[in-house]
Amino acid sequence: MNILVTAGATREPIDPVRYLTNRSSGKMGYALANAGTTLGHRITLISGPTNLDIPPNIDFIPVETAQEMLEAVKNNIGGQDAAIFSAAVADYRPSSFSDKKIKKTADSLTLELIKNPDILGSARLQFKYDGILVGFAAETENLEINAREKLCRKACDLIVANDISQKGIGFDSDHNEVLLVYPERTRLLPMDSKERLAHTIIEAVHELRTGTG
Ligand code: PMT
Repeated sequence: MNILVTAGATREPIDPVRYLTNRSSGKMGYALANAGTTLGHRITLISGPTNLDIPPNIDFIPVETAQEMLEAVKNNIGGQDAAIFSAAVADYRPSSFSDKKIKKTADSLTLELIKNPDILGSARLQFKYDGILVGFAAETENLEINAREKLCRKACDLIVANDISQKGIGFDSDHNEVLLVYPERTRLLPMDSKERLAHTIIEAVHELRTGTG
């Protein structure tokens, strides 16, 4: 299969020295890219900035902002058998960029934020993508209900849901525990290393593509 993976956090610039971002390390997405290659698939990895080594034998597309990630996905999703969106995209960005460093003279500072595009939500209608579409859901409550809502709203075949309020899994951890939420069923993958979970997720995606799941 040809598989596109998004990974890591986006950075939304405020001025030349500051940006808005989140706690995603990229480990989950890079584990998916590595597992995909090990299982014999061709991987395109679109990644926000991370401290991780670029996985060997893949097409690597580095991006910084949500807008850049959107463009990279739009330009590369055609021809993919599966697309897996594990990136933690900043939902909002500053409405303007100051090309001069903002001075710390005032006692308070108000930043106006505007909504970023929903990249996963653009796949079906805007990019006309008809391959296997896999989203992630990072939730702090009602994991399965919220994941199922995202599955329908974003027209996915599968949502990989993680409870990011639990210690030791999710953001920046080497481990995770996820629910695979399909339209008609749910499967728990108990706590394990992100590498082993990634292996199982890629196999689940392959089963969806080949109709063997
Ligand atoms: O990178 P790690 O440190 O290893 O952490 C892994 C992780 C916790 C980041 C990962 O497992 C995870 O949950 N990724 C999704 C994080 C997220 O932004 O979830 P969400 O529920 O807010 O978004 C739902 C889906 O829409 C995700 O597939 C996301 O990539 C996508 N999205 C969200 C917003 C947006 N503007 N565009 C998107 O494509």
